Amino acid sequence: MNITIANIFNKQIKLNTNIKISGWVRTKRDSKLGFSFIVIYDGSCLKTLQIIANKKIKNYKKEILLLTTGCSIQVKGVLVYYKENKQLYEIKAKHIKILGWVNNPCSYPMSAKHHTLEHLRNFSHLRPRTNFIGAISRIRNILFYYIHKYFQKNNYYWIQTPIITSLDTEGSSEMFEISESKSYITSKSKKNNYKFFGKKTFLTVSSQLNLESYACSMSKVYSFGPTFRAENSNTTRHLAEFWMLEVERSFIKLPEIIEITKNFLKYILNNLLLKSEEDIVFFSKLFNVDLIQKIQKLINYDFFEIEYKEAIDILIKENNRFNVKISINSDLNHEHELYLTDKYFNAPVIIKNFPKQLKAFYMKINNDNKTVASMDILLPKLGEIIGGSQREDRLSMLDKRLFELKLNKKKYWWYRDLRKYGTVPHSGFGLGFERLLLYVTNIKNIRDVVPFPRSSKNAFF
Ligand code: 4AD
Ligand code: MG
Repeated sequence: MNITIANIFNKQIKLNTNIKISGWVRTKRDSKLGFSFIVIYDGSCLKTLQIIANKKIKNYKKEILLLTTGCSIQVKGVLVYYKENKQLYEIKAKHIKILGWVNNPCSYPMSAKHHTLEHLRNFSHLRPRTNFIGAISRIRNILFYYIHKYFQKNNYYWIQTPIITSLDTEGSSEMFEISESKSYITSKSKKNNYKFFGKKTFLTVSSQLNLESYACSMSKVYSFGPTFRAENSNTTRHLAEFWMLEVERSFIKLPEIIEITKNFLKYILNNLLLKSEEDIVFFSKLFNVDLIQKIQKLINYDFFEIEYKEAIDILIKENNRFNVKISINSDLNHEHELYLTDKYFNAPVIIKNFPKQLKAFYMKINNDNKTVASMDILLPKLGEIIGGSQREDRLSMLDKRLFELKLNKKKYWWYRDLRKYGTVPHSGFGLGFERLLLYVTNIKNIRDVVPFPRSSKNAFF
């Protein structure tokens, strides 16, 4: 059976035994004395493995000497310590089978030289062969696992909410409309006549409304899936397709959902440090930042919680710093968020109770009738990572908001039903998964933390 490099470094394989291992050549060096050092990787972990092949191997001259970066090989040999160093291993090869050559090595886009992240983005299909994308993919995997684990452990149910929707959950109209295949579009009008669903449909911008219907029956639920936004903001923090975790819980109010959110973040980050240290250290070295310390700080320190009004008071005093000046009732831009997290508090910040006109229709109106029971969580050097709120559970107030925002009440009939039949207080939040990855790795561009990035003018394949 094939073993992996991770099996070896996790000490699952006995020393001095015969093993079979497969992978891709990262580098090869030939000695004049009749042997070659081949370094292979297989993506199972960040580490590579050195293979020593000598001229006694029957295809040494004809094949092994011709190997280049990117070729795939299967090696049979004996596992030994590398130069008596008990931390490292190598394989004394007995047989090497070439599984795949690299045609025209000069044109191989992932050659051994250093490539920029921009170059790698043009090769989403080959870039997982780099340490960079390998490391981010393993971190993604671990975070996915612990996110599910946290909610399963705490008795939440995972609800698989739909991607196709007819409602604009966030009321911001940044939606991708679904266009039907040719057979549904009449040749005369050449327009989409929505025959398939009988109405306009879109890719979901948030599964929250669907999730609320399950929270209002199963109490503790979450969803985790692809989410789509047609924001034309070509920033390093926005994707057209990203993953959002959404959590919805009945019988709780804003302060409790804030506690749950903090507890959840600390849990997943703690486990990330336990399970992905090697990959985190890789990014620490690359960007020259102590990421372990940065993540530990988030786990150990408390978040600052402030009212929207307090945030505005702080920011107005500093207006001369900002490109976009802030005033009461205006929304926070990225530069304002970063001033609060990086300069003023030097810590994560939770901003609560925004003016109702800055937030979506579903948030609960506070007693002042001006603000909503909302929260945004901002992280240093990143800005907003989580948005959440207590939901409006009173039918009359919900209808008032729909009216104020000129949203068609009829379209929301099923959502209104949840308030008609056994309404309950409930609250929830949404976490942008890729934004979390930016935070824990210090990667600057969100297109580099997702396998196949889709963003404005970017959907290669
Ligand atoms: O703040 P948002 O828009 O909140 C909602 O959609 C709520 N319905 C969530 C809920 O309460 N269930 O989005 C939540 C998070 C943001 O804080 C941000 O981290 C991320 O989703 N996000 C994006 N991430 C990448 N690319 C984009 N275009 C994003 N838009 C939002
Ligand atoms: Mg938001």
